[in-house]
Amino acid sequence: MSRAISIIKQEHLNYLALLQCLGHLADEASESRSAPDLTLFHSIIDYIESFLDRFHHPKEDDYLFRALVKRHPESGALIQRLQGEHAEGEVLLRDLKDVLAACEGGGEPDWIGFADAVGRYREHQYNHMRSEEMEALPLAREHLSAEDWQEIDAAFLAHDDPLFGDERSAAYRRLYSKIVAMAPAPYGFGAKAPR
Ligand SMILES: [Fe+2]
Ligand SMILES: [Fe+2]
Repeated sequence: MSRAISIIKQEHLNYLALLQCLGHLADEASESRSAPDLTLFHSIIDYIESFLDRFHHPKEDDYLFRALVKRHPESGALIQRLQGEHAEGEVLLRDLKDVLAACEGGGEPDWIGFADAVGRYREHQYNHMRSEEMEALPLAREHLSAEDWQEIDAAFLAHDDPLFGDERSAAYRRLYSKIVAMAPAPYGFGAKAPR
């Protein structure tokens, strides 16, 4: 398997764990089960903006999708949809940030509205990753050449993940512990131990 495919799939798995953690925290806030941990919300948004929206999605657009359309023009409609979803994801994230800012801005915080915005974002991202893995990656495997993969692999090997990578940034250590604690086995230790 190409290195880029392994990296993309691993980044998707990591992203799912992150989104699950965000969902849990937003649900807890909306059910008033605990005081919302605003630092964690900001850490999650910061990571999505500074890593996923800056490296993962643009590299799919600029390397993987571009090569796929070139080698297999029939995939044009699919690639256009996936690129549109990258832009939609940024809009949904902006909505989510606006609701969070309003919750922090004084007055009665609308944590139910925030949990709804998180739910919309999660569903969108989940469906997007699913389409990439079920539709785009199999076509890429079938139609791209070894030279194409060399270029795509180099692009995806050139960035480090500051949350899930080996060189974890100090800014994300607490968030990482939270994700591991909340994610179900075998990813983390959030599930109940078997009796
Ligand atoms: Fe994507
Ligand atoms: Fe992706």
